[in-house]
Amino acid sequence: LTLPAGEAYKTLDIVNQLWHGFLEAGLDRKGTVIALGGGVIGDVTGFAASTFMRGVSWVAVPTTLLAMVDASLGGKTGFDLPDGKNLIGSFHPPKLVLADPQVLKTLPEAEFISGLAEVVKHGIISDPDLFNLCSRGLDWVQEHPEEIVRRTLAVKIKIIEEDPYEKGSRAALNLGHTVGHAVELVSGFRLRHGEAVAIGMVAEAKLAERLTVAGKGLSEAVAETLRALKLPTQIPEDLPREEIIRAMSVDKKKSSGVVRFALPAEIGKVELVDVKDLEMVFEE
Ligand SMILES: NC(=O)c1ccc[n+]([C@@H]2O[C@H](COP(=O)([O-])OP(=O)(O)OC[C@H]3O[C@@H](n4cnc5c(N)ncnc54)[C@H](O)[C@@H]3O)[C@@H](O)[C@H]2O)c1
Ligand SMILES: [Zn+2]
Repeated sequence: LTLPAGEAYKTLDIVNQLWHGFLEAGLDRKGTVIALGGGVIGDVTGFAASTFMRGVSWVAVPTTLLAMVDASLGGKTGFDLPDGKNLIGSFHPPKLVLADPQVLKTLPEAEFISGLAEVVKHGIISDPDLFNLCSRGLDWVQEHPEEIVRRTLAVKIKIIEEDPYEKGSRAALNLGHTVGHAVELVSGFRLRHGEAVAIGMVAEAKLAERLTVAGKGLSEAVAETLRALKLPTQIPEDLPREEIIRAMSVDKKKSSGVVRFALPAEIGKVELVDVKDLEMVFEE
C-alpha cells in the first residue's frame, strides 16, 4: 500500500484505507504489517495495526531522522483530528525497529536538521557525550549518522523501559516541548517541529537558569550546539508573546493551575518542575 506524504494525511481516512488494504491482502491475526517511511507513516500504520482484528504485529522501518530517533520508539501510534494533532491513538509498540541510516542520504537537509533537535534533546536528557558529538557541527554529524542514531535510541529506550505509559519519569522527554509546541502552533506550523523544539530547549534552559534549577551558562551551551547544527535558537520576533503563553497554558500536561516543565539542570540531567507564572518564560 502506498500512501500520500505529509501530516495532512495523518487521518482516520488513511487509517480506514489501511484497514481495507489489510483485508484485501488477506492479513490475519498472525500477520505482521511493515511501516516503511517517516513518522506519519509509522503513526498511522502502527495505529491501524493496533486496531485491526484487535491488534496485529507491526515492524517499523523509519526513513527520516525524526522517525528513527523518536517516533518509531515508545509505542505511541495514532492520527490527527481537524481539532488537533495526535488526538486519537493507542500504545502499540512495534515488534522490531529497523533503522538504516543509509536511507537518510535522500532526505532533504532541512528535514535532517529538524530531526537533529530531538538528538540534542536526548543528549541533554542523559547523554553528555552525545551532546558533545552534536557540538562538532552539522558536517560531522552528517558523516556519522550511525553514531548519533545509535546513541539517541539508547537514551530513549532506557527512558521508555523505565516508564512505558508515561506515568512519571518519561515526562523528561518533553524537554523543549512545552515552549516548542506552543511556538510551533502560534507560528501556524511555519516552523518545523524540530526547529520549534530547538527554540523551546533554549527558552526552557533560560527558564531553568532563572529558577536556579540550572547554573548560569547552560542556555548558552545549548544554543551554541544548536547553532552548530544550523537550528534556530530564538523565538521569532513576530510571534505574539501572549499567544505563546496562552498556547502553553492549554498544554495537555497542565494540571491544577501549573504547567509541568521538563527543565535541564545540567547537560545530562533533567528535572520536572511545576511553573505557575508562565510570564517567567519571557523574563530577561
Ligand atoms: N509516535 C511518536 O512517539 C512520535 C514521536 C515524534 C513524532 N511523531 C510524529 O511523526 C510525524 C513527523 O515525522 P517525520 O518528521 O518523519 O515526517 P514525515 O513522515 O511527514 O516525513 C517527512 C517527509 O520526508 C519524506 N521522506 C521520508 N523518508 C525519506 C527519505 N529517506 N528520503 C527522502 N524523503 C523522505 C516523506 O515522504 C515526507 O514528505 C508527526 O506526525 C509526529 O506527530 C510521533
Ligand atoms: Zn518532538
